[in-house]
Amino acid sequence: MTRALFAATALAAIMLAPAAASARTAFDGVWLFDKAPPMPGVTMMEVTSRGTRIEGRVTTLWYGPITMIDPRVENGRLIFDARNINDRDHPFRRWSVSLDKGQVRLQGQIWATEVDATGYRGTAKAAKARAFKVAPLPPLGAPIASRLAATPPMGWSSWNRFAEHIDDETVRAMADAMVSSGLRDAGYRYVNIDDGWQGRRDANGVLQPNDKFPDMKALTAYVHARGLKIGIYSSPGPRTCAGYEGSYGHVAQDARTFADWGFDYLKYDLCSGEWFYPNADTVKRSYREMGAALQATGRGIVFSLCEYGRFEVGSWGRDVGGQLWRTTGDITDDYETMAKIGFERNGDPDHAGPHGWNDADMLEIGNGGMSLDEYRTHMTLWAMSASPLMMGHDLRRTTPEMLALLTNRHVIAVDQDPRGIQGKAVRKDGRIEVWAKPLADGRVALALFNRGTDEASFALTAADAGLRSISQVQDLWSGATAAGLPESYTVPAHGAVMVAVRGG
Ligand code: GLA
Repeated sequence: MTRALFAATALAAIMLAPAAASARTAFDGVWLFDKAPPMPGVTMMEVTSRGTRIEGRVTTLWYGPITMIDPRVENGRLIFDARNINDRDHPFRRWSVSLDKGQVRLQGQIWATEVDATGYRGTAKAAKARAFKVAPLPPLGAPIASRLAATPPMGWSSWNRFAEHIDDETVRAMADAMVSSGLRDAGYRYVNIDDGWQGRRDANGVLQPNDKFPDMKALTAYVHARGLKIGIYSSPGPRTCAGYEGSYGHVAQDARTFADWGFDYLKYDLCSGEWFYPNADTVKRSYREMGAALQATGRGIVFSLCEYGRFEVGSWGRDVGGQLWRTTGDITDDYETMAKIGFERNGDPDHAGPHGWNDADMLEIGNGGMSLDEYRTHMTLWAMSASPLMMGHDLRRTTPEMLALLTNRHVIAVDQDPRGIQGKAVRKDGRIEVWAKPLADGRVALALFNRGTDEASFALTAADAGLRSISQVQDLWSGATAAGLPESYTVPAHGAVMVAVRGG
């Protein structure tokens, strides 16, 4: 089915009339589901037939109405196709409905989720109450000018270590630890609450935190009093990735709520929004809608786009009001995933610069899944890439080795360099990569990475830095300076060397 045809079918289903007076199939009518699994959260099925033509839709909490494509009755079952997501091999899935003792059993699949839910007959009135309110998307407005994030944002985010198990007390503890460990003074500023803080909306539609966050204003004040900033998380879809309430249909209202609570940063994660915004045009418009809403609050709120690097987000992330945009799916605490992102999926350097950064995802340093050399590579890669530095471990349990990696001022200075150039590979030789990043003070940062599993010796040259000769070399991890480059560097397996060189 073509996109246009699909859109027409979807529209027809949205305008579907209530159950026809004269039911033609046993499935005609409204069916209600009260105990369906939370994802995608089937609430209702509506079927109408006229003559041989059957129309229908399944309403869900995650994706709103799912239109039945080509519904037909075969061997006593209602069979239809439904659009799928995140599965190139199966852009559509076959669903089926069977009838038994006056109840329907709906079975299908969407993404990785098997749907198997039992429903009972409902009334047109019940259907109205459960109808999904489709929120129209505003047209793409003019580019939004940003003055925030002149350098890549630095801080901490709850997801990598705590996932949904985050609460007010832990956020406060992270703010305290950020100060007492010296991380704040090394440059880390944002304490960001990721998914899992949301409760329900009140009668006026205002989003409330869940009971793990009793007082958001008090929490932001606590964090601000420590010289820090604080971030929050939402989605353009009805549900966040962990299944919490998203901002769909409440975009401006939520932006005002976040500003009113005192937040300084919003990570906006596509999640269920990918169903509604499956192409570049709609994704851009949905992100711009929030970008404009944040700007309208008058509060300087950094806008972090999380749509996994789709549709070349770096080429339009700034225009929709973003200061950083994720370049990939999620990092995990292992060398393979970290290296895949850092070396290969860290975004187009041409898109990065002051007020707009490729975000290679939150750091895993300190979470325990990589060796010290691998974590050094992680930090070196992110700094060379001018990626945001969002720590992702329990700050109360930062070992001296991890603290040294995270607070090295020379390495942080490369990440935070005011020229804002994203470094890139200038030479690859087997498992060895040399990266260069020109700095504001005229020096060039060079990194030598060993992606192999054996120690390797390798030379850096002036040409790697685009220079004819070198007058000074600083080893950024040790701080030691020398007049020239050594004959070669010995780099441990999965390790990195990082220097800044001056020409002359
Ligand atoms: C997505 C994002 C992650 C995290 C989770 C929360 O997977 O990419 O960074 O925010 O959602 O559910």
